[in-house]
Amino acid sequence: MAKMWAGRFSKEVDETVNAFNSSISFDGRMYRHDIEGSIAHAEMLGRCGIISKDDSLKIQEGLKEILADIESGALELDMTAEDIHMFVEAELTKRYGDVGKRLHTSRSRNDQVALDIRLYLRDEIVQIRELTAELVKTVCSIAEENLDTIMPGYTHLQRAQPVTLAHHMMAYGQMLLRDLSRLADTAKRMNFNPLGSCALAGTTYPIDRNITSDLLGFTAPTVNSLDGVSDRDFCVELASALSLLMTHLSRFSEEIIMWCSWEFKFIELDDAYATGSSIMPQKKNPDITELIRGKTGRVTGDLVTLLSMLKGLPLAYNKDMQEDKEAIFDAVDNVKLCLKTFIPMIETMKINAVNMRNAAARGFINATDCADYLVKKGMPFRDAYKITGQLVALCIQKNETLETLSLEEYKNFTELFDKDVYDAINLETCVNQRNSEGGPSPEAVKIQIEKTRAALAKEME
Ligand code: ARG
Repeated sequence: MAKMWAGRFSKEVDETVNAFNSSISFDGRMYRHDIEGSIAHAEMLGRCGIISKDDSLKIQEGLKEILADIESGALELDMTAEDIHMFVEAELTKRYGDVGKRLHTSRSRNDQVALDIRLYLRDEIVQIRELTAELVKTVCSIAEENLDTIMPGYTHLQRAQPVTLAHHMMAYGQMLLRDLSRLADTAKRMNFNPLGSCALAGTTYPIDRNITSDLLGFTAPTVNSLDGVSDRDFCVELASALSLLMTHLSRFSEEIIMWCSWEFKFIELDDAYATGSSIMPQKKNPDITELIRGKTGRVTGDLVTLLSMLKGLPLAYNKDMQEDKEAIFDAVDNVKLCLKTFIPMIETMKINAVNMRNAAARGFINATDCADYLVKKGMPFRDAYKITGQLVALCIQKNETLETLSLEEYKNFTELFDKDVYDAINLETCVNQRNSEGGPSPEAVKIQIEKTRAALAKEME
């Protein structure tokens, strides 16, 4: 494809250089946003009298036609074009001659590309937020159905204190709510219009940047033209919000991987969301969750790519910035893929409440409650803690649990123990009495679900 900037040059660009320089293979996906931006620009040029009303209309018609043709498949993107911006403009000129050549008045690809990425990512954020909201709803429903499903809570991956699956799910609910609000915040700061910054130093034409801002639904024009074309903070912010969202999905995935191992067997994945082995007939593997865990590294890598790309760049535009797109598109694509598979996977997984309860019954996760029992009878906590530790050691030695020790054995340690100790260390009692705000008791978790749903509704207003 002939270069628009060929005037100054006496030779055609080398083929390898052309391929190296070209970004259409990855920025072609922004064709709709590029055309939408150009339509707004042409409208503004017409309204400000920079081109005639007639030309402005013809350009807008032509751009709509090109959009329809790309969408219907009648027009294919030319992979030898330098980028999507050049491709669309060249196509317009091919179809409309001189009128098409007027479109780029008072504009540069520098403000054009800055605009296109914002428009593109703005739409992507809407989709990612909707998927994330769906995941929040899913964890709330799983929680609602498992308010009494007792499982061990862990620290250091050692059984620690009893919680419920509902309580565990609602922890993820909170993380995901924060992800939603970070994404909204990113979108808010991204929503400023760089168009009219031109190459770097604005323009001598009497443009009105508020017109394009309003037409394209931006909050306002960017304040400084150098910043308008140099800023990719919004890509970094989005990649960062996405990396953290992926980190949450990755922790969740890691737990699911453990929970479907034979060692845990807390859950079983639906056959549609698991895979087999080519050699071991018994295998049912949690590949989806492993891929999510793996792709988290990739999205974090995208964030690092963007930060490293920007850190040494002088103002204003530098070609290095073309590297922003593959990184941020990769992050966005992968997050969407992960959410789309993760949601139905957890919706369909079977919960093995019996195995969770059995795991909770071993590992002395009611030891704190045993110590608290003595404290409530007047013993200082440190002494109660020590006695309970000795009781646990005795159980381990005799292969018993706190539930199976006889009252006599209890009384050997202190006369404060009585029959009611068995009630106090009963797992159901232990969970029900952990009724502090944010705790695992069914009552406390019901409130967490309500609060999460209310916050979600507000977030998605
Ligand atoms: N394809 C370029 C990019 O993605 C568009 C801007 C090119 N500007 C320039 N002055 N070469 O960044």
